[in-house]
Amino acid sequence: MVDFTLTDEQKALREMAHDFAAKEIRPVAWEYDKDGSWPQEVLEKAWELGLMNSHVPEEYGGPGASYFDGVLIEEELGWGCSGIGTSLAANGLATAPLALGGSEELKKQYFGMLTEAPLFASFCLTEPDAGSDVSGMRTTAKRVGDKYVINGSKCFITNGGYASFFTVYAKTDKDAGHRGISCFLVPKDDTVTVDKKEDKMGQRASNTATITFNDTEIPAGNLIGEENRGFKLAMMTLDRTRPGVAAMAVGIARAAMEFAIDYSKQRVQFGVPIAMHQAIQFMIADMATKVHLARLATWQSAVLLDQGRRNTIESSHAKRFAADTAMEVTTDAVQVYGGYGFIKEYPVEKLMRDAKIMQLYEGTSQIQRLVIARETLLPRHIEEPAPAVA
Ligand code: CAA
Repeated sequence: MVDFTLTDEQKALREMAHDFAAKEIRPVAWEYDKDGSWPQEVLEKAWELGLMNSHVPEEYGGPGASYFDGVLIEEELGWGCSGIGTSLAANGLATAPLALGGSEELKKQYFGMLTEAPLFASFCLTEPDAGSDVSGMRTTAKRVGDKYVINGSKCFITNGGYASFFTVYAKTDKDAGHRGISCFLVPKDDTVTVDKKEDKMGQRASNTATITFNDTEIPAGNLIGEENRGFKLAMMTLDRTRPGVAAMAVGIARAAMEFAIDYSKQRVQFGVPIAMHQAIQFMIADMATKVHLARLATWQSAVLLDQGRRNTIESSHAKRFAADTAMEVTTDAVQVYGGYGFIKEYPVEKLMRDAKIMQLYEGTSQIQRLVIARETLLPRHIEEPAPAVA
């Protein structure tokens, strides 16, 4: 039976995340946005409540939440502030390859670190010349005895400046295209440098940095999965994390819609609140439809993962539609506010800036369409191990 009714546990989880977003994130979100500073205090409180690392399996000390639980949490965090939400969610992206392909020893050690203290991890895939085209990466990992030596630079790395370890994709066979990429667990040491903190348009509370690996040596056992199989691991990771990004985009859109609704009931023009004008009503109606459909697509893409099924196309549907929804709804919310919407004193301009990244990170809206087109025109069977954890 198809049923979108939340259980009591799911309702309680959503309420807890919402409460945190309302009491701890919203009151400080616009300040962190202004400064572009790191919200350590908020992140630590979220860690204590279990709103970080909800994906870590119980056997490694985490709550072992389902993917569906994850998207319930992420919508609320995105509603509070998607910059802070992104900082909170980034450990999930960084450790998804570990969950999928890491050895027992690696999982125990690195999941353990995240559950014992409020530490951060980063996912290092993108490079200056390899964004959408993952296989164009230049970072290399050379096997030397019982070690790998990593060299190269990764950019746009979420939480990069604060990470205690990284999951790094590197070429282990330069001539083999996507079949020459491997994934590694790299602890932070002196050979790993944080070169640049980006000054961003939106999500300014999240840290985005360039990370360089300078002859960084790691034990051979820090290889995640098999050598030269890292590309697939990256794709499988993104299938699992794009629902969370979609959920955050739904949260941004919902926040903008709520602000627009409240404002349209207060603002009087032509002798009546502007909510009485059909032009505004239709904008609000479109917002409500888009938020609703984006949420349904997001939930379905997460439920498929919980059922152990491949969700590549559904994940791209959700990410693309929710990201575009966030951009459209926040833009229209600014429109509802009129000239005031353009002023920083009012809340919707931040949301519009924050929404833009949803169409860019974890695969642009164009890459999502590419995936959807391929899966629709030429569906292919891809063998992948059943996911053990979120
Ligand atoms: N699951 C498992 N395997 C998959 C897969 C999937 N979803 N998609 C592709 N594969 C496999 C294919 O079966 C194929 O396998 P074989 O080697 O056996 O043939 C292999 O991967 C190559 O597939 P493609 O031919 O489709 O690869 P491509 O080079 O054409 O690239 C792409 C496909 C969709 C464009 C991909 O490169 C992509 O997703 N690019 C976007 C990257 C991205 O999202 N980057 C975001 C970085 S993370 C981030 O932003 C977070 C942050 O911190 C800010």
